[in-house]
Amino acid sequence: MLRTVVCVSGGGTNLQAIIDAVKSGDITNTELVGVISNNYGVKSLERAEKAGIPNFVVCPKDYEVRDDFHKAFMDKLSELKPDLIVLAGFLVRIPEEMVSTYPGKIINIHPSLIPSFCGKGFYGLKVHEKALERGVKITGATVHFVNEGMDEGPIISQKAVEVKEGDTPEALQKRVMEEAEWILLPKAIDDIANGRVHMEGSRAVRKV
Ligand code: GRF
Repeated sequence: MLRTVVCVSGGGTNLQAIIDAVKSGDITNTELVGVISNNYGVKSLERAEKAGIPNFVVCPKDYEVRDDFHKAFMDKLSELKPDLIVLAGFLVRIPEEMVSTYPGKIINIHPSLIPSFCGKGFYGLKVHEKALERGVKITGATVHFVNEGMDEGPIISQKAVEVKEGDTPEALQKRVMEEAEWILLPKAIDDIANGRVHMEGSRAVRKV
């Protein structure tokens, strides 16, 4: 069983998609052993509680020094002994040592077709605002392994979503979540849990 920890910051719709997929059997060979939020009182925590998943808050604001937050975060992770760490709507820069401690074991969902609209400052609604500003006709979502860079790790999967005339950022975000994120992330976890994809150097290698 792949011991899986999900890191969240807010609403947790991607977490919910994962929970539902484990329940329905769309994700197999996986045990959700913990949810870690950087914020108190967010819906993600309610979703975890309802699903009976141990859930924790490790909030940067509780630590005067960033390094102390990083240590607390790493300690919590190590307690949970994860085989896979999923950043699902997690809006905090992860500690550098996390990548070297869990090589090829951290994945992230980003709400664009990387390398478009990603990197510093591109998160949540801002991504969709920029896509609309640029006037792209197609956007989507990307699941990738996490390396030292921001949104630069090996791409596991992507799914395109049409931008429609008159889209607001909120409408586009909702479509990207529904048509791409909530499909790609559970599928990526199931693929990893069943040995169909893994990280090798700078590539995501898929068993054919
Ligand atoms: C989503 O746009 C996701 O792509 C981004 O964070 C937003 C909220 O995700 N990473 P969630 O509802 O908390 O899963």
